[in-house]
Amino acid sequence: MSAEPKQVVTYRLEDQSILSQIKNSFAPDGAAEREHNAQPDSAGFGSIHYGLVTNLKPQRVLAIGSRHGYVPSILALALKANGSGALDFVDANYSDTTHGVDVAFGGVENWTSDPAEKFSTFGLKEVISVHIQRSSEFFSECESKYGYIYLDGDHSYDGSCYDFEQSLNVATAGALIVLHDVAVSQPGFGVKRLFTELDENLYNKILIPAWPGLGIVQRKGETSA
Ligand SMILES: C[S@@+](CC[C@H](N)C(=O)[O-])C[C@H]1O[C@@H](n2cnc3c(N)ncnc32)[C@H](O)[C@@H]1O
Repeated sequence: MSAEPKQVVTYRLEDQSILSQIKNSFAPDGAAEREHNAQPDSAGFGSIHYGLVTNLKPQRVLAIGSRHGYVPSILALALKANGSGALDFVDANYSDTTHGVDVAFGGVENWTSDPAEKFSTFGLKEVISVHIQRSSEFFSECESKYGYIYLDGDHSYDGSCYDFEQSLNVATAGALIVLHDVAVSQPGFGVKRLFTELDENLYNKILIPAWPGLGIVQRKGETSA
């Protein structure tokens, strides 16, 4: 007698009950609406990340910086929907209270105890490796190449330039590097300046101007992710 086929359960962001659980678990402070242009029934910038990853199907994704895991959880959900791929999530676990706003940029030291376990919802931890360290430490040891890179860690001009330049070194041909907060001009934030300065002779750039701005960058002359 042949074994019954294994039922594969796929959780999709288009399902309102899945979106609502993602927000409850990974944006409990309302960050999806406040920082990612979401509405109560939509994922905002989360839909852009999900749509790009499910269509481009990168084999490896890198995300740097998240308070409670909203974007990393959506990237992982997209990889699970693809049926392949892995996410490296890097966060230094800073908090405004301990390290200061100019270092933590809104961090709350959420990644203290058993960070991988926080992604047990929908089995997301199966595709996520969590790295609690500064991006510089991660990049210095990194041997992987990524087809989709999301930067939302150090928002200073020098820090965001560093993360962008390092990302270019670990990006596959045609990879997308996506910058959060490219519309923010408050003191201490330099991602807007970085995005503006990127030479359009060298990079394709798309600005999603909805607050607080998402910048999608791709090195020119490269096509496949
Ligand atoms: C709080 S997030 C920004 C908020 C984000 N838009 C969200 O929705 O969660 C910034 C994160 O970047 C992390 N971070 C800051 N500098 C970093 C660095 N050099 N390397 C890795 N993570 C860093 C902080 O620990 C913090 O958790």
